[in-house]
Amino acid sequence: LAQVKLVLVGFMGAGKSTAGRRAAEALGVGFADADELIEARIGEPIASFFESRGEPAFREVEEAVVCEVLDRPDPMVVALGGGALGSEAVAAEIRRHVAVWLEVDDDAAWERARESARPLARDRDAFAGLHAERLPLYESAARARVPSTAGPRGVDRALRSAMALARPEVPQTVRMLWADIGDGYPVFVGSGALRAAGALWPQPGRCFVVADEMAQALHGEMLLDALADHVEVAGTVTVSPGERHKSLSEAERVLRELARAGMQRSDALAAFGGGVVGDLAGFCAATYQRGVPVVQVPTTVVAQVDSAYGGKTGVDLPEAKNYVGAFHQPVAVLTDPGLLTTLPDMELQAGFAEVIKTGLLAGGRLWDRVRALPPLGQALRGDIEVVARLVEGCAHAKLSVVARDERESGVRACLNLGHTFGHALEAAEGYEAHRHGEAVALGLLVALRLSELEAGLDESVRFEVLELLERHGLPRSFEGPGTDELLAAAALDKKRRGSRQNFVLLAEPGEPVIGAEVPRQELVAAIEEIRA
Ligand SMILES: NC(=O)c1ccc[n+]([C@@H]2O[C@H](COP(=O)([O-])OP(=O)(O)OC[C@H]3O[C@@H](n4cnc5c(N)ncnc54)[C@H](O)[C@@H]3O)[C@@H](O)[C@H]2O)c1
Repeated sequence: LAQVKLVLVGFMGAGKSTAGRRAAEALGVGFADADELIEARIGEPIASFFESRGEPAFREVEEAVVCEVLDRPDPMVVALGGGALGSEAVAAEIRRHVAVWLEVDDDAAWERARESARPLARDRDAFAGLHAERLPLYESAARARVPSTAGPRGVDRALRSAMALARPEVPQTVRMLWADIGDGYPVFVGSGALRAAGALWPQPGRCFVVADEMAQALHGEMLLDALADHVEVAGTVTVSPGERHKSLSEAERVLRELARAGMQRSDALAAFGGGVVGDLAGFCAATYQRGVPVVQVPTTVVAQVDSAYGGKTGVDLPEAKNYVGAFHQPVAVLTDPGLLTTLPDMELQAGFAEVIKTGLLAGGRLWDRVRALPPLGQALRGDIEVVARLVEGCAHAKLSVVARDERESGVRACLNLGHTFGHALEAAEGYEAHRHGEAVALGLLVALRLSELEAGLDESVRFEVLELLERHGLPRSFEGPGTDELLAAAALDKKRRGSRQNFVLLAEPGEPVIGAEVPRQELVAAIEEIRA
């Protein structure tokens, strides 16, 4: 830890003190609970001081005590009170350390906090208002976000992983999200993450890289250099670009090359590329000797905002897309938005369809960010941190959904918004005419039109999406397969249940409706509406 402290921030009731105490013990360093130090300083319980002297007086003492403890030279774990970040001095001081935001939702926090004597946990509405008001403070100060739902074991593992952020090779721009899925894993996001890949690498043992040919040519050397001091890279297998390589025969070729190179179960695989290589290499990792660890290192927009997280891996059959596969969660994801700067405009544009989808599903601040973004190429040439935060927001949104439903027995299905029609169009065209993202863009228009008819969505959302598609160079209409052919292709979609055609609809941004059955004539009309 050197002089860097692990500082736990977050709302009251998140469990910062308990988690902090355990982390300090595991790391063999000291622990300080800011509220306890404050009570020692004022010589009475915080609640009575608050009552008699008022909040401003309390905040003054809190600021002094917290700045003092953060200034101590020894490594330690510190748990802060929920409102401490309201002080600019504390927020500034914290940048020298690794702040971890232990996230708790408003309801869970209320359940825990109202039992206590906390002065700010007396009125339910005021409590909810305070929670919403403080979220941006935690978000901007924290370098790691850990959901308290991960439980003691998950939180302990997450805090250990967050320690990697304190290493000198890891730039301040890199942040960590904790995926509370399966055993849990860290997702490191930020420009400079690739250069720090070695310091962030989660596995002992050797590593084999399965790389997209283009990603390898442009950024492979940086990855190998970054890994060199920390892990032995024992082999690299490259994969030619294109969806047609996401096939069983290509999986066989990769698996055989790994076998010939002597890969063992104790080794890990790095999937370095876009969604094609992520899905293909993930599938190879799931099946090689019945499963080896995989670290996803996504290099395209689609992969960085969506496909690298959540553990769906697989390949296509000539009959249909993604028909063979396995759930296999990565042991870590390293996402460097700086890699997006070498993507051709067409890929940036197509990838943005998944960003729009994620924004629509998440609603709130993420949707606002998506709406405000200039064309991605322009945004990347401007302030890359804006793009990095957008990528991080999308990753967080996807991880939250998957954490609630890893195997898609319920809520995870919402991630298919726009994909039923999108997949049908790709299949009917033999995957040639449209890129995946372009097909999803058109699928979103169909889904939003159906949402107006079946889920009460205001049409202004579709109009805004039409504008976004135009701004980001995505199609708003298509020419091609007849509607009957598209409906037949949709019927092959594996997300269909029985003979019914289920759609993901949207009641409003942030409120998906899953499993809606849509009358055939409405679907036909929605498709015809976007036919050029
Ligand atoms: N597993 C999931 O949850 C999930 C989710 C969404 C999509 N997907 C899958 O993802 C795939 C699409 O992924 P994609 O859009 O990333 O396509 P892709 O992997 O084919 O990559 C697109 C192109 O970008 C090139 N490339 C990659 N990184 C680059 C870089 N940094 N600079 C320049 N060029 C680069 C590649 O060579 C390729 O030509 C589809 O197969 C889809 O089914 C999976």
